[in-house]
Amino acid sequence: MTRKLRSREWFGGNTKDGFVHRSWMKNNGLPDDAFDGRPVIGICNTFSEFTPCNAHFRGLVEHIKAGVLEAGGLPLEFPVFSCGESNLRPTAMLFRNLASMDVEESIRGNPMDGVVLMVGCDKTTPALVMGAASCDLPTIAISGGPMLNGRFKGRSIGSGTDVWNFTDDVRAGVMSPEEFSAAESGMARSPGHCMTMGTASTMASMVEALGLALPGNAAYPAVDAHRARLARMTGRRIVEMVHADLRMSAILKKTAFDNAIRVNGAIGGSTNAVVHLLAIAGRIGTDLSLDDWDRLGRDVPTILNLMPSGTYLMEDFCYAGGLPAVMKEIEDLLDLDALTVSGHSLGHNIAGAENFNSDVIRPRNKALTGQGGIAVLRGNLAPDGAIIKPSAASPDLMSHRGRAVVFETIEDYKARIDDPDLDIDESCIMVLKNCGPKGYPGMAEVGNMALPQKLLKKGVRDMVRISDARMSGTAFGTVVLHAAPEATVGGPIALVQDGDMIELDVHARRLELMVSEDELSLRRSLWRPPQPHRISGYEGLYIERVQQADKGVDLDFLVGCRGNDVPRESH
Ligand code: FES
Repeated sequence: MTRKLRSREWFGGNTKDGFVHRSWMKNNGLPDDAFDGRPVIGICNTFSEFTPCNAHFRGLVEHIKAGVLEAGGLPLEFPVFSCGESNLRPTAMLFRNLASMDVEESIRGNPMDGVVLMVGCDKTTPALVMGAASCDLPTIAISGGPMLNGRFKGRSIGSGTDVWNFTDDVRAGVMSPEEFSAAESGMARSPGHCMTMGTASTMASMVEALGLALPGNAAYPAVDAHRARLARMTGRRIVEMVHADLRMSAILKKTAFDNAIRVNGAIGGSTNAVVHLLAIAGRIGTDLSLDDWDRLGRDVPTILNLMPSGTYLMEDFCYAGGLPAVMKEIEDLLDLDALTVSGHSLGHNIAGAENFNSDVIRPRNKALTGQGGIAVLRGNLAPDGAIIKPSAASPDLMSHRGRAVVFETIEDYKARIDDPDLDIDESCIMVLKNCGPKGYPGMAEVGNMALPQKLLKKGVRDMVRISDARMSGTAFGTVVLHAAPEATVGGPIALVQDGDMIELDVHARRLELMVSEDELSLRRSLWRPPQPHRISGYEGLYIERVQQADKGVDLDFLVGCRGNDVPRESH
């Protein structure tokens, strides 16, 4: 290799600066030959005990390091902000961009030639990929893997999805609080992230479909030895990628995003993938729009029978053949020439893939739904777009006209939803405002509002819901999300009032507020923006600079690739 590695700018040369950089590193026990010009591999670890989905990463990282050493590299682990979905308030999404800044500056400012991204819980994956994409070094991702299937009363239960079901059952009076508590203990049975096709599993699939992770990344359970072996191979492979100077920009081409969007349709992936892929594309400088999601996903059948769209869980998906088997089933819809971190094309990676369970990974003629992608809706209620996941919605509500029942904030919703006097029936459309990127702030996963208790008791299990929020990837229902512009900046959703008629037509991709333009103009003139929660600190910066959902909810000044030039010396 003749190319000079960037780590030589720190560790090469017999100068005062070289002395400083090497000497302090030697306090970790590194011998002289650790600085002989071998590739330095940064391993970006999102371990945190507050992020239970990634809490096994201390063990997993050792396998990556072993692989790096075997291939002749120097592995150096570094921590970054860990945004765990289950604990972080007000929502982990508020901190995705903050974590991405941490990742980007950690990579650029330190002596590394290649990067391994250890990702798992929902936001950790996009945060790390976004930050790394703004640097564009050779980079490979490895997910921590899903938990084993949850178990309760002799059956499998899925994280997230069954929490929503159980919550509704308790509120409907068909599940006792004791059973609810017992289910809680059976849900998370092993290390790993949510084992439904929620956002974590979706993003693990997305990095594999984008070509940023080795084949098999999406589905091996966290505790399966295959996961440890994959980590070892990932460590070996990143050293080879540095030698070949195989950078993220060579992989994250438009065709890679097109493939990922199609795969998202096939797996019934999370709606959150929309904002995350838009943000990643923005960082690497690839042109991707909300309309690409509709255009590319429109005719992709959902063939993966996993919760929340279907029945099974990630462990079953692994045993059925994992993501390579899904991609094999839809290979005619993919660009098989797309380059991946394996050094081979996507087509090469999936050439030998087999489907071992045709009820988990369905053949195309037995798909869960023929139109599995994300539908992008437009109309006077969301001129910059809103989205819905048809595979998780009720077919009989896909075309629906109903009376709006409006909640100004999530607190307003919580205060009134179970009021017996609330004027609502199953034909109504629930509208939730001020939960978008600036409004919450952070665009919380509250769009799948639970139904009123009085309707649950009648057996109603789905209604049309519309908001500027997101929803958990594990959630389901006829839920219109990401309405843009959001209410807090004066988007049309801010103008909806109780009793207005709204028309949803997913097939025609329309979302209309049936109110005259004169009336809307009057309401617009009377509208006043709500007071922001906080105007200082990171939250203040976020509110000031965050972009709307159709742009990926990135901070405007973070968009783009700023490269990996070595910064000036510090001493
Ligand atoms: Fe971490 Fe679901 S809470 S993946």
